[in-house]
Amino acid sequence: SIKACLFDLDGVLVDTAKYHFLAWKRLAAELGFEFTAQDNEKLKGVSRMASLDILLKVGGLELEDGVKRELAERKNGWYVEYISKMDAAEILPGALGFLKQCRELGLKTALGSASKNAPIILRNTGLAPYFDVIIDGTRTSSAKPDPEVFLLGAEELGVPPEACVVFEDAEAGIEAARRAGMRCVGIGSPDTLGAADLVVPSLGDVSLNLLFQN
Ligand code: BG6
Ligand code: MG
Repeated sequence: SIKACLFDLDGVLVDTAKYHFLAWKRLAAELGFEFTAQDNEKLKGVSRMASLDILLKVGGLELEDGVKRELAERKNGWYVEYISKMDAAEILPGALGFLKQCRELGLKTALGSASKNAPIILRNTGLAPYFDVIIDGTRTSSAKPDPEVFLLGAEELGVPPEACVVFEDAEAGIEAARRAGMRCVGIGSPDTLGAADLVVPSLGDVSLNLLFQN
């Protein structure tokens, strides 16, 4: 039976995609090209440097590693400025209730995020106390779809992978969960998240009791 829930952060608990978008768009503008909301969709769940590579491809630019690092840092500076103003109002529908329910049912909880900024977001939204373990982008060496982030989370919780459920909004995250040998719930559309065991529009649409039945 299920003993732990592991949550992705961006797109599952909070809507930070809009801030990533603002910052990447600003960087593209400085570099002299346009970056659209549609382009931004390709960055969901993708690490910071891999996101930059996708953006540079859109602009038809090839740059040296040193320059790329500087650009990624500039983007992150703006992003941190945006998320520093976040508060609990930006928690996605159903997320807080779901986390509280986990606590009531005695389920362990872990964060499994690619973001190096996860701690600031958890602090500003007041979500930090709902997690037993926090694995963020500073603690892993391989990005999703590698299962590292979730395996490390399960290990620190002391729960075997088969007793874990992962909640993810990105395809790469669903694959990471599957490769970790965990069950997974996709938050979003079945069109892109079909590989999940169950897909729902938001955390407000999942019943923990239902998950317990199988
Ligand atoms: C993921 C986001 O959670 O974290 C990506 O979905 C983001 O869009 C990645 O690029 C890395 O985040 P950060 O905050 O370390 O740049
Ligand atoms: Mg996500």
